[in-house]
Amino acid sequence: MVEKYVFGSPFETQAVIAEIEAAEFAGKEWLNISLENGFCCSYQMDDADVIYGLGEANRGINKRGYQYVSNCTDDPHHTEEKVSLYGAHNFIMISGKKHIGLFFDYPSNICFDIGYTRQDLLTVSCEQADLYLYVITGESAYDVTKQFRRMIGKSYIAPKYAFGFGQSRWGYKTAQDIEAVVSGYRDNQIPIDMVYLDIDYMQDYKDFTVNPERFPDFAQFVQKMRENRIHLIPIIDAGVKIEEGYDIYEEGVAKGYFCKREDGTDFVAAVWPGWTHFPDVLNPDARAWFGSKYKILTDLGIDGFWNDMNEPAIFYSEEGIQALNQAIADYAKEFSGGQGDAKTDSDDIMNNANAVPGEIREMMNQLQNSPADYRRFYHNVNGKMVRHDRVHNLYGFNMTRAAGEALQKIAPDRKMLLFSRSSYIGMHRYGGIWTGDNQSWWSHILLNLKMMPSLNMCGFLYVGSDLGGFGSNTTRDLVLRWLALGVFTPLMRNHAALGTREQECYQFEHIEDFRHVIRVRYRLIPYLYSEYLKAAMRDEMYFRPLGFDYPDDRRAVETEDQLMLGNEVMIAPVYTQNVSGRTVYLPEEMKFIKFMPDGSIYEEVLGKGTHYVEVALNEVPLFVRKDKCIPIVDAAGSVDEIDMSTVRYLGYDGAEYEMVE
Ligand code: NOJ
Repeated sequence: MVEKYVFGSPFETQAVIAEIEAAEFAGKEWLNISLENGFCCSYQMDDADVIYGLGEANRGINKRGYQYVSNCTDDPHHTEEKVSLYGAHNFIMISGKKHIGLFFDYPSNICFDIGYTRQDLLTVSCEQADLYLYVITGESAYDVTKQFRRMIGKSYIAPKYAFGFGQSRWGYKTAQDIEAVVSGYRDNQIPIDMVYLDIDYMQDYKDFTVNPERFPDFAQFVQKMRENRIHLIPIIDAGVKIEEGYDIYEEGVAKGYFCKREDGTDFVAAVWPGWTHFPDVLNPDARAWFGSKYKILTDLGIDGFWNDMNEPAIFYSEEGIQALNQAIADYAKEFSGGQGDAKTDSDDIMNNANAVPGEIREMMNQLQNSPADYRRFYHNVNGKMVRHDRVHNLYGFNMTRAAGEALQKIAPDRKMLLFSRSSYIGMHRYGGIWTGDNQSWWSHILLNLKMMPSLNMCGFLYVGSDLGGFGSNTTRDLVLRWLALGVFTPLMRNHAALGTREQECYQFEHIEDFRHVIRVRYRLIPYLYSEYLKAAMRDEMYFRPLGFDYPDDRRAVETEDQLMLGNEVMIAPVYTQNVSGRTVYLPEEMKFIKFMPDGSIYEEVLGKGTHYVEVALNEVPLFVRKDKCIPIVDAAGSVDEIDMSTVRYLGYDGAEYEMVE
């Protein structure tokens, strides 16, 4: 059952598309709501309650014991204490004796204190008491999730090629660089379907441009890549460079399609291209206009995109830098006894960090993604000016919606790949997400795993993380272990930051190990894509916490490092260094399967309970549930080359599999 309550005058986020009649909240015995100081809702948790949800968020599958703030943030340091990442997914579920889903449809900062201040208390609070609260009750955690998923509309479906492996790196600059990557894979017989273009393909970081020196004939290059069964996937950033003569900038200014300051001038923020304006993607006309620009690249043969920096990330604003300069100039005057040339003195200060006083250093640190900047600009939503901070968490959603809606018009009969860094629930109808700038840390394999089911609950099915880790230098074993998880995530992409150690699979010794792990992915694609399609079409989850399938088994409910995948599989990847295997908990008898490096398949029936399973660096493990089976095919070099006539079944004899293609 779904109840919808209205508080104040909520912003229509369009997260929910089902028509549900809203009622005034008349009180509930178990849900305490106070409107004295903004909005605050609290719930007394039972010891055994598990709190699921929050999509892309830090920490565990069970969110208890910490606090989280929905505030889309460009922060590449996903350490344990962080409360905000790039997405805002305000759906949580209390699962214990009762199963209650709560969706707070509120597009600004909202805090989920889940037993942080008081261990048994869940409180959700935000500054403005203007929101819709949906209360969903059902007979199980999965039942509540499915009801929620039905409310928010069907998930985006990625093309099948997007289940292939992709290589990315910030720093591939030229067509030759891309060709070298493709040869690195093809020459070593490592399957691959996609190479990603990061910001360097653009001319001076201008959206929808291609640097003609680096890519002399881009259309022909895209075509040549397609003939080699490679899809090139360019990045699109939120900020549009301010530059006379750049048509997108000029058109946006002329049509009034950029976000404005209170005085009506276009807001200016620095991102990769230098000074930029942000397209006002919350304005339907501006959204359609920005979306239509993707055609510039689809006309050149492109059929997939990743949208970045769309929190939107701000390095600094004009106002921020002016205030800093002023503070420096004032300090410089004081520094020189009220005399001297302030300019020279401020340069001295900037060049000598130790001379910079604390307040100035603090100002410098706060230039990036500053809350003050998010209060400085407005969106034109159907004629009404809405201050950005009030709807901050909707920007990435609407940038991706711009692209998604446009791509449906550009190629109505064709699926295109689309995923975003920032998101809000609702965006799951237009694209997938990647989980942003993780690090080459072992703990981030586990964080990757834990986010997957939470994202699925919120409708995001095409999901994955930067395999091998984005920031910091990776290691061979970390890449291999991470790939063995990535074998199962819909988005399987190796991506790394500028300046880090090269981490393409062919950069390491014993390339055959990488070849083997990625070939396993291709053997599984018919199964993985079939389960993905089922999840999307039936409002189900591709990845589930074990507690969804075995709610009465406390050990399963508390398992945070294994996942159920589709209807047949459980995964338990290795995520620690220097080990030859791991402990795994089986809530029922299952068949333990390992794809061995020589191409053979190891099978062993293991009973319910705890087992230590050996898994070498070059083996890929999975478990098939009792009396189930999965289809596998022969490995292929690309998705197009998968030969369905080689299909055979793995698992329990006599079991049948329902294939959806
Ligand atoms: C930030 C993104 O998160 C990262 O993936 C990308 O490589 C850089 N921006 C550069 O575009």
